[in-house]
Amino acid sequence: MDAADSDSHQDNDVQLIDTVKGNTVKNTKKVLLATLAAGSMLALAACSGNAGGGDGGSDGGLIGVAMPTKSSERWIQDGDAVKEQLEEQGFKVDLQYAEDDIPTQVSQIENMITKGAEALIIASIDGTTLTQVLQDAADAEIPVIAYDRLIRDSENVDYYASFDNYIVGVQQATSLLNGLGLTDLEGEPAADAPAGPFNVELFAGSPDDNNATFFWNGAIDTLQPYIDEGTLVVKSGQTDFEQAAILRWDGEVAQERMENILTSTYSDGSTVNAVLSPYDGLSRGIISALTDAGYSVGEGWPIISGQDAELDSVKAINSGEQFATIFKDTRELAAVAVDMAAAILNGEEPEVNNTEDYDNGVKTVPSYLLESQIVVKDNITEVLVESGYWTEEEING
Ligand code: BGC
Repeated sequence: MDAADSDSHQDNDVQLIDTVKGNTVKNTKKVLLATLAAGSMLALAACSGNAGGGDGGSDGGLIGVAMPTKSSERWIQDGDAVKEQLEEQGFKVDLQYAEDDIPTQVSQIENMITKGAEALIIASIDGTTLTQVLQDAADAEIPVIAYDRLIRDSENVDYYASFDNYIVGVQQATSLLNGLGLTDLEGEPAADAPAGPFNVELFAGSPDDNNATFFWNGAIDTLQPYIDEGTLVVKSGQTDFEQAAILRWDGEVAQERMENILTSTYSDGSTVNAVLSPYDGLSRGIISALTDAGYSVGEGWPIISGQDAELDSVKAINSGEQFATIFKDTRELAAVAVDMAAAILNGEEPEVNNTEDYDNGVKTVPSYLLESQIVVKDNITEVLVESGYWTEEEING
């Protein structure tokens, strides 16, 4: 959302809040998004309770919500937000976490089907492993919404709620360029940009997560011109997705890979100046590897990116260990998925804004993509505190 857009949303806030009392699912989402963009949480209360269809909300049907793991804070925020918003609309919720174990997630979804769930909202662990259980859902006429991560290899995925994942990757790379003094946060070249060369190392997400390649492609497309002109140098030579990928987004594996790179490539007295990390949990592992190798915050400490605005990482941005993260508001994502489920159950068409980019191998899944934001030390308060995502006390505590 550009500045002009968000201004006009702000102007329309009051009017939109009035509109939501007219009880349409679409307007509910618009109000939520507009209001969050304007930094006000007012509409959260105003919009809840309406999208379930008419005054009384839903008929209280059960919705199954499958989340990948509690080991990462963001999924806990997602699960809580989806549950709360569904309950506000009168639904019952079966919320399950699978601790990154694929058979566990499959059996949790099977259970939801057995219990008579009317719709499923699923954030998959491995996007390719749900084909059979989704066939079972389709046989029972249960609509399926892929949450944040696209579910692949199945025609039985009705809608996809996510962020613009390619742009997330662009933002991660842009935050690195900004930290190195090469661009501003919009990616515009800095007038007084240093010549470099800067040593950069690249990390990618889990290869079984459809998002990981989107993040990678967005980031690499952004960094490539700087690599081509020699301003950035990937000194390890590890420039392929396969070399950079970290299965299940595991921070310890990222730590090990960073340790290996430091030993193999930087034992000659050279230093790493920046690390592209696609997730805060990986960034924390990378930070540990650097600290153990003798780097310390201050002169010579690398610029490190991230994603999810997890609390520990926001603190790390405050203290200078991490340079940036990408904020994806889990409350907004929950609202999109909840509105999609409610619309389908009301016999309405959910609102989508992308019908081109998310081909799951069998079909292009109609999607609603939200916008994310780069967070650096200077805008923590504006982006995270003023929107009510974290409090000042949590960040400073
Ligand atoms: C999500 C990211 C998250 C990552 C690891 C991805 O699918 O889109 O927000 O950082 O999984 O949990």
